[in-house]
Amino acid sequence: MSVRILVYDDYAKMSAAAARHVASRVNARPGVVLGLATGSTPVGMYAELIELHRREGLDFSRVTTFNLDEYCGLDADDPRSYDRFMWEHLFAHVNLERTRTHVPYGAARDPEAECIRYEEMIRAAGGIDLQVLGIGMNGHIGFNEPGSASNSRTRVVRLAEQTVQVNRAKAEAEELPAFALSMGMGTIMDAREIVLLANGDAKADIIRQAIQGPVTPDVPASILQRHPDVTVFLDKPAAKLLELD
Ligand code: F6R
Repeated sequence: MSVRILVYDDYAKMSAAAARHVASRVNARPGVVLGLATGSTPVGMYAELIELHRREGLDFSRVTTFNLDEYCGLDADDPRSYDRFMWEHLFAHVNLERTRTHVPYGAARDPEAECIRYEEMIRAAGGIDLQVLGIGMNGHIGFNEPGSASNSRTRVVRLAEQTVQVNRAKAEAEELPAFALSMGMGTIMDAREIVLLANGDAKADIIRQAIQGPVTPDVPASILQRHPDVTVFLDKPAAKLLELD
C-alpha cells in the first residue's frame, strides 16, 4: 500500500506540516497546479500558507488552482459559497492571479455544461499536480458521496442528508443547497499526488475505514489506497484507531 501516514500532536502542528508540504511543491515547481478543498479541516493549513507567503515570500504568482466543489445555485459572492470561502481563507491573502484560480460556477445556467467546461480547464492546465482533500464523516471526498463510481468526472451530485446537516451546522446557515458540482472520483484519482487531511476524534473511525479498511464505494476515500502517491496528515485524535508500526 502506498499511503504514507503522518501523525502530529495537534491540529496546529498538522496544519503547519501540511502547509510545508504544499509549499515544497510550489517552490519546486512555480507553475504547479493545485487542487484545493474547502471545509474546516484545511483552514489552518491555508493560514500557514499565508504566513509562509508573508514571512518567506512563498510565491503563488504562477500557481493555478482548481477547487473540488461548489454548491449548485450559489453565486460566487454568496457568503455560503465555496468561492467566497477560498477568497476569505487564502486567495485574497497571497499573490495568486485571479484568472488562475478556479471554482466550479455554482450559479451556472447549465450546470452540466459547467462541469464539462471545468474538466476541460483542468485538462488544458495540464492536469492537477497536487490535490488537497478533506474527508466527510461518511468518507466522501469532494462531494463524492458513498456509491459514487470510481471513474466519475466533474458532475452535478446530490448531497447525502448527513452532509447537508453537518455543513449547515458548520456554516451556521439555515439553508444550504442539496446539490453541488463536484470533481469526480476519477478526476481526483488523476491528480499526480494527493494529500488528505483529517483532524479530531469524530474522524477517527472513517479514517480507519478509509485507510485500513477494504476498498469499497461505500467509503469513497478508500479508493485512495489505489493511488500511487498519497500522504495523509492527521492529528492524534483522528489517528487513534489506526494500526501504526
Ligand atoms: C470540501 C469538500 C469536502 C470536505 C469534507 C470535510 O471542498 O470537498 O469533501 O473536505 O466534507 O469537511 P470538514 O473539513 O469541514 O470536516
